[in-house]
Amino acid sequence: DAFLEDFAGSPLPDLSPVTTATREWKCDPYTNAAAHYGTVQRLLIDAEDIPQICIERLKQSKLKGMGGAGFPTGLKWELVSQETEPVKYIICNADESEPGTFKDRVILEHLPHLIIEGMLLAALTIGAEQGIVYIRHEYGPEREILQTAINDAYNCGILGANVAGSSRKFDIEIFVSPGGYILGEETALLEALEDKRGEPRIRPPYPGTHGLWGKPTLINNVETFALSTSIIAQGNDWWQAQGVGDYPGLKFFSISGDVNEPGVYEVPHGITIAELIARAGGLKDDRPLKAVLPGGASSNFLPAEHIDTPLDFDALRNVGSMLGSGAVVVIAEGRNLFDLGLSITRFFRNESCGKCVPCRIGSEKAVRMLEQVQSGERDAASLDIMPELSETLLQTSICGLGQVALGPMNSVLERFPQDVPAGKETP
Ligand code: NAI
Ligand code: SF4
Repeated sequence: DAFLEDFAGSPLPDLSPVTTATREWKCDPYTNAAAHYGTVQRLLIDAEDIPQICIERLKQSKLKGMGGAGFPTGLKWELVSQETEPVKYIICNADESEPGTFKDRVILEHLPHLIIEGMLLAALTIGAEQGIVYIRHEYGPEREILQTAINDAYNCGILGANVAGSSRKFDIEIFVSPGGYILGEETALLEALEDKRGEPRIRPPYPGTHGLWGKPTLINNVETFALSTSIIAQGNDWWQAQGVGDYPGLKFFSISGDVNEPGVYEVPHGITIAELIARAGGLKDDRPLKAVLPGGASSNFLPAEHIDTPLDFDALRNVGSMLGSGAVVVIAEGRNLFDLGLSITRFFRNESCGKCVPCRIGSEKAVRMLEQVQSGERDAASLDIMPELSETLLQTSICGLGQVALGPMNSVLERFPQDVPAGKETP
């Protein structure tokens, strides 16, 4: 009631999203719960329409999942809303662990109310009463900020048994991931929440139909929930106008490596790799660009000639890499990509949960071969087997880790042969 009184007779709050292309965070309205949640309040005036409005706006916007896979968000919300099971869950995946990715960390810190409102809108859409933010265990300060925002939302009457005076119920709790890269995979995450060993489940069924405790569960990434709030608040025309040309909307990127100003940038969707590098202050010491990993450790290395490719799911797929979670790692001339590729392969070998034999054994086999070539104990020509090994993992691994584990290294072997050590000399 107190919350509604605050708003009685007052104009709806300004819901302009934060645009941070210059890294100047204008986040005051978003760290104050009482100044936010206008969209929820406005929609609750006509509660019957909430699912229809939210799903329609998200579908029109063509928003894709920003965790990395790019599944259409509106379709996901619609599929879960159609499930007839009375108990459903909302999960915000904040277990950001892809090497090179740190955008969600910044969103959690600066825009917690956008995330909470996105989860609430999703709950009102699919008919859930319980939400969980599953957060990376190293994100302690962000967890505290988020908990404070959740507490504020309860104090404003926006969360709890009577959401904004509507008699609808929605609670959010934070669950700290037990740790490990694979525990961010959506079904390993569910296992961890159910107090089991954190290994991925075989999909389908997807969590949308069989999720937490077997119930329909909507899982979205931090950025996806935050962007959903802005889209539902401001509609498709506004969203389309934010992007470059035909590319809709805005996108957060983490950019790191050989640039002058690494950090998190929110930019119009569709800007090129070159433009993002320029936003990040250009290459360090004006060195020439050698390669880019556009989607973190899971993506293939792109040679510098692709610098004018738009940062978009399809555009990057067309040049043999992927947008993934928007983790752009910039590599200048002078670095050896075989070393980098080996380091990535070791990472996936170390993080493999071991459930699938090809991933467990194949990743170890690949690391051993690559190390032997590096140390001169093995003939580099024997790495010809790598594409076949990679294909085997792709075909037989049950989760994304095994499917991409050897991809980055293979892109080095294929696109940067000059960086591959000579290995053992053949007589
Ligand atoms: P996926 O494509 O299998 O699934 C994406 C989402 O769509 C999931 O929520 C899934 O449940 C849903 N989905 C897919 N097909 C569906 C269907 N037919 N019906 C209903 N729902 C469906 O991708 P996955 O394995 O979930 O994620 C892989 C991506 O994660 C990689 O591309 C990588 O970029 C990214 N990643 C991100 C990390 C991060 O820290 N942000 C860490 C590791 C990987
Ligand atoms: Fe575990 Fe690898 Fe199988 Fe994924 S592909 S479930 S990480 S063994």
